This record gives sequence, C-alpha cells and structure tokens, in this order.
Amino acid sequence: MLSSASRAFSALDIGVTQVAKDVLWIGVNDWDLREFHSMESPVGTSYNSYLIQAKEPTIIDAVKHTMANQWIDRLKSIGGDDLKGIKRIVVQHAEPDHTSGLPILLEKAPHIKVCLTKQCLNTLARFYDTSKWNTEIVKLGKPFSIGDRELIMAGVPMAHWPESAVTYMPSQKILFSSDAFGQHIASTKRFVDQIDKSLYLTEAKSYYANILQRLGKPVLKAIKTASGLPGLDMVLPAHGVGYRRPEDIEAGIKLYTQWASYKPNPKVSVLYDCNWFGTEKMAVAVASGCAKVPGVDVEMFHARRTHITRTATEVMDSAAIAIGSPVLHESILPDLAMHLNYLRCLGIKNKVGGIFGTFGWNAAATPKEIRNQLLTPNKIPEVCEPIMAHWNPKDEELKKCEEMGTKLAMAAIEKCNEK
Ligand code: FEO
Repeated sequence: MLSSASRAFSALDIGVTQVAKDVLWIGVNDWDLREFHSMESPVGTSYNSYLIQAKEPTIIDAVKHTMANQWIDRLKSIGGDDLKGIKRIVVQHAEPDHTSGLPILLEKAPHIKVCLTKQCLNTLARFYDTSKWNTEIVKLGKPFSIGDRELIMAGVPMAHWPESAVTYMPSQKILFSSDAFGQHIASTKRFVDQIDKSLYLTEAKSYYANILQRLGKPVLKAIKTASGLPGLDMVLPAHGVGYRRPEDIEAGIKLYTQWASYKPNPKVSVLYDCNWFGTEKMAVAVASGCAKVPGVDVEMFHARRTHITRTATEVMDSAAIAIGSPVLHESILPDLAMHLNYLRCLGIKNKVGGIFGTFGWNAAATPKEIRNQLLTPNKIPEVCEPIMAHWNPKDEELKKCEEMGTKLAMAAIEKCNEK
C-alpha cells in the first residue's frame, strides 16, 4: 500500500501548468487532506504557488512544509538545480499553509529575495527564524518592479489575517487574491470553468462560511479594492481553482458580496440533539411546520451526526434557525454546545430563532443555555416563547412545535424581503 507521502508525489502532480502568458502554476495538491484547522475538506485542497516568468522570475506564495520538496523540485525544473533562475518570492499572507515551505526553500536558495509588508514579516518572525532572510519591504499601493513588469500589493486587512494582502499585475490585469475566492479543492484543473460547477459552488461556500463568515466588513472592503482595479482579466487564489472568464469573475464577486452582506435565503435550519426520541420528534414537528410555507426550504441537522463545517455552511444563508436540546443537568447536550460555540465564533447574523426541547426537572436550562451561547451574543430574536416538553412531547406540544416552524418560515420570508 502506498503511504500518504508517496501518494503526494503521484504522476498527477509532477506537472507545472501554464495559467496565463508567462504565468505558471507551480503549487501542490494535498489530495489526502480531510481537515483544515477543524474545517472538513472532503476533496483535499491545493496550496497554489505561481511563478511569473518575468525578467526577474518571481514566485507568488509558498506552500505548506509537508509538500515543500515537491514544490522545490518543480522550481528546480525551471530555475535550475541551484535555483539561481528564481529571483524573488512575494509573500501575501503569513498563515503557515502558504509560508511553512518558505524556510525550506530559503535554506537551499538564500539568494531569493522575500518581498512582503513589514507587518507580514513581523508575523512570520513569530513562526520562523527570519533573521538571515534577504527581505524587501513592500509598501502597499506602491508598484515594485520585477524586471520587465510591475506588481502592486494591496492590503485586505482581516480578510482574513491582519497582514493579508493581494497582488495585482497591471500588465495582464491578473489579481493574485491570496485566500479570497479560494476553495479547498485538490485538482489537476486550475480554473472554475474546467471543473464540476456544483463541486465548486459547494466548496466555495463552505470555505467562505468557515473561514471568512465573521469578516463581512473587511471582505466588502476587499471587494471594493478589487472592483477599483483598472481591469480584472484573471483571479488566481491561493487554494483551489481560479477564474478566467468574465462571467466567472463576476459570479464569484456576486457570491462574495451576498455572503459578506449577510443576505439570507428563505431557508430554516433545524439544529438539535437528542437522547431519547423526544427532542427529535419536536425537531421533526418544527420542520413540518416550516415545510407548510411555500417557497421556504428547511434542513435538519442532528448535532451529533453532522460536522460543524456543514452546520456553519448551511446556517450562514438561512434566514431562521430553530435549536433544540434535552436538558443535561443544568445545560444542553455537549455536541450541540460545540455547534453553538462554533456558530457564535463565526458570527452568524441576520436571522430569527426559536428554541425547543425536553426536560426532566429543570425546564429553564435549555432556553437559558441556547440564549447565552448563541442567540443573545449574535442578536438573534425569537419568534415565540421556547417550547419545552416534560420528559417526552405530547400531541399538543408537537402541534406548538409545528406552529413555531410555520412562524419561523414566515419570518424567514420577511427577513429576506428586508431592504
Ligand atoms: Fe490559506 Fe489563511 O491561509
């Protein structure tokens, strides 16, 4: 059986791909990755690195240390065994998935100049020994030469780290967009128009929901920066596939604008956990009530059987969320608490909510915990009083749950119609 290390060097990955005139993709595919800092990545990811074959050949972004040898082998095939054919590397963002391969490269090729902002260098100095690096501090918005053409870095702070920046090459109207517009997709293809559209949409949404959801304002600012460029013929992100057709660039910006503006769809998410059938029956009743309202979608998520990545993705554009749990001592069930903690951390907003559950001797615990853990900090108003059933719901309580579902669905439509 092949080890994951040897699979990383499969024939599929040896090639370098030309993505534009004088621009090569020299990144790596992490086919086996299934988890990216707690986020599920069912189809792996790629760490995209690009080589601009300018008079002074320049790399945009490094790759993760685990795959640095593969990346360096590619670079050697172009820049020679001593890598003297490579002059510089632009570092747009300090996160280690794009920088931990850099010290390995610089050990072999210390002549390569590292171009980055002071803020980025300061962050990198917390991860690596940067003292011997040959650095060139770049001023945001000020063009710098790579021999026969120029690059300009623009800051997109907090989209999604403080030092995050993107790089524009005016001569070909190419934007290297760092994490923005990326997806966790490993592929031999390099553009949206070359892969299955539903895979792209699923992974682009999941990526945005789990990495950028909290950062709507900085993302809108970054979109404004991109829209202000003198032209945009290609967008090359640091993960997944890029954009080269005008309709794909426009659609990508439109999706990001909707998500960053927290504009929901007429959809209700029912998130619950359950020990002995009762809360689950209530969840089904809530969902049935939602389904009675035409034009509203409803989705159910059992907290113990659903990954937080999926909840975060689907709740993001839901206009309403119903949350249910039986009482456990003075609180709710732990898996549901993990989901709520994650949704609070991601800053879900612009929704209405509802609470339901079962209890043995403390009816107040579930509403109190769900409010404290999510609804209050995220400013999610409730459409009605919580519905709490003693031990196991009776028909009358299930009817109330159905009514809650219908109220949530109608409120979801209203929320979507808000200007
Ligand atoms: Fe893909 Fe924020 O690193």
